[in-house]
Amino acid sequence: MLGGIVLVIVAFVNQISASQETAEKMAHKLPSKMKAVGLYKYLPITDTNSLLDLELSLPELRKRDVLVKVKATAVNPIDTKQRAPKPNVETNPRILGWDGAGVIVAKAMNAALYNVGDEVFFTGNLGRNGSNAEYIALDEVHVARKPTNLTFEQAAAMPLTSVTAYESLYDRLLISDKDRGKSILIINSAGGVGSVASQLAKRLGLKVIGTASRSETKAFLLDNGADIVLNHTQNLLPQLEANGYGNGLDYILVNYDPYPYWDTLMKAIKPQGKICLIVDSSGLVDIKPLKEKSITLVSEQMGTRIKYQTEDISRHQEILQTISQMLEKGELKCTLTKVMKPINAANLREAHRLLEEQHLIGKLVLSGF
Ligand SMILES: *[C@@H]1O[C@H](CO)[C@@H](O)[C@H](O)[C@H]1NC(C)=O
Ligand SMILES: *[C@@H]1O[C@H](CO)[C@@H](O)[C@H](O)[C@H]1NC(C)=O
Ligand SMILES: *[C@@H]1O[C@H](CO)[C@@H](O)[C@H](O)[C@H]1NC(C)=O
Repeated sequence: MLGGIVLVIVAFVNQISASQETAEKMAHKLPSKMKAVGLYKYLPITDTNSLLDLELSLPELRKRDVLVKVKATAVNPIDTKQRAPKPNVETNPRILGWDGAGVIVAKAMNAALYNVGDEVFFTGNLGRNGSNAEYIALDEVHVARKPTNLTFEQAAAMPLTSVTAYESLYDRLLISDKDRGKSILIINSAGGVGSVASQLAKRLGLKVIGTASRSETKAFLLDNGADIVLNHTQNLLPQLEANGYGNGLDYILVNYDPYPYWDTLMKAIKPQGKICLIVDSSGLVDIKPLKEKSITLVSEQMGTRIKYQTEDISRHQEILQTISQMLEKGELKCTLTKVMKPINAANLREAHRLLEEQHLIGKLVLSGF
């Protein structure tokens, strides 16, 4: 009995020193420079200076940071919005990309959740440099273990959209198992967030109504949890009525500029229903109609907890870890649809161009340097 305990302790001590050795070895192997894609000026994507190939120093670690060697990085509408033309000029290059997967190669003193060598996926922090680089420094709250049976490319497709979709349904609309059988309309559901949100809503037992305009998009939606797909190039109200939702919907998740949809939203929502916005409105909207039907209007921005260091900041990491487990168990399907190699300025400009066209289905990931 005692012998067994001693053996366990010895094994444990050996394990610690072994992982410290690996940590040092890997830290020694770190180069002083890294490849990165960044910008100084905010230019149209057709301008070759809009995203540049750069060679930069490795990022410095803050107190709870891990340093991740990036294997794959995803692009999201937030990248094109951050890059959108404006007169500002950066003195130091700015690296975009807030979504990816890789391997931890170093960590700061107060980083306690992971070890050097761990394979992870992560969301980023808009206030810091991003994942369009060989290395990214991240507070460990942004990081979760990579689902073991997903490739780095598949894993990189998931963090940002999944956290956004999960927060929208669970933390903002407060949907839970007791809401089984209720209805949700997900406007513009073929993108990254929409395709995860439809899958999660379906698992929550909701009737999921998606919107798309092309037949290949419709097929993708039906494969990702939608029960019904409406055509968003046509008025949604008669289509809802034709499908038995003339009396309104319990929830609406608006994965698009709400401005052109506002009147439709006000009419399509049930009394006491809830609407969640995840895209900025391009114009002012009238909130008066909310009152009579006692409608709840909520917003979701991934990273609010991190930006404002809210008391529940650890929930960000919890959600990402839950997503990782769901992917591993097959409860959530990877939404990766396109991979480009390698990660360089030319490919990232092409990726941004495709995003700006707004015809992408699922997720686009870039991998390798
Ligand atoms: C981004 O990286 C550049 C180049 O290393 C550095 O000068 C800049 O300060 C970094 N920006 C932030 C916000 O950390
Ligand atoms: C949606 O409507 C547009 C125009 O009204 C039409 O061209 C398109 O084929 C429709 N899409 C589907 C999937 O039916
Ligand atoms: C990961 O494993 C789960 C459970 O076996 C499976 O359903 C899922 O399809 C796998 N994912 C991938 C990308 O292979």
